[in-house]
Amino acid sequence: GQTKEAEINANRFLNIAHRGASGHAPEHTLVSYEISKGMHGDYIEVDLQMTKDGVLIAMHDEKVDRTTDGSGYVKDMTLAEIKRLDAGSWFNAAYPEKAGTEYEGLQVPTLEEVIETFGKGSRYYIETKAPDVYPGMEKELVRVLKKYKLSGQNAQSSKVLIQSFSQESLLTMQSLDPAIPLVQLISYSKPAMISDVELSYIKGYAVGVGMSHTKIDRAYVEQVRNHGLLIHPYTVNERADMERLIDWGVTGMFTNYPDLLEAVLKNK
Ligand code: G3P
Ligand code: CA
Repeated sequence: GQTKEAEINANRFLNIAHRGASGHAPEHTLVSYEISKGMHGDYIEVDLQMTKDGVLIAMHDEKVDRTTDGSGYVKDMTLAEIKRLDAGSWFNAAYPEKAGTEYEGLQVPTLEEVIETFGKGSRYYIETKAPDVYPGMEKELVRVLKKYKLSGQNAQSSKVLIQSFSQESLLTMQSLDPAIPLVQLISYSKPAMISDVELSYIKGYAVGVGMSHTKIDRAYVEQVRNHGLLIHPYTVNERADMERLIDWGVTGMFTNYPDLLEAVLKNK
């Protein structure tokens, strides 16, 4: 549709704040997202998990162990239980040189809290994580996006991109709301290869693809671009890698350091 193409296009390079400014502050906290906005991140990247009582929360892992003081699977915990966890102190322990007392006791945000905090003046690059574990997560996601008018006929241009490694999850999203632009993530264990047939198929439902920047080369980027697809490699944290990928023609990238990417883009 027209809104898909209007603002999300290959000429507008996207600085995607991976888990927020997660190189500076604890990932997937409101503080991390807030910092990324001050660093010229175009999109806040949000990974989704779903609680036992069906609430979408911002968290990368299926378990709370790495990024909170709790343990266990999100799917086995209620939102109330998740809300009791400290999602910041682990960062202070892991990165003493970046630690801040303000990170102590930060809560895990729900998707709704993220949207209520940053509003329609922000853009969100949302990943359905582990959709097999969370039947109905796409339906709940579409409900939230509609509630805040981030999707559907009233959206002037999409403030949201939905990404997933799961093609099935993306196709479910498409069937629930065909107006939301989608990005197919692809996992490669070896140097990336893709056929034109596959790219044509992806082009049928998605506006772009994302994959590890360590697996691609210039020819891969050009092949993807020739299909009219966006290409957003992850997770690019070194200046030299950013410069090389921009030179190859990527249309955006995920980074834990949106400030570094902004500086690189300014020098171009
Ligand atoms: O979503 C792009 C990139 O974030 C995929 O890897 O594991 O960081 O979600 P991951
Ligand atoms: Ca992600």
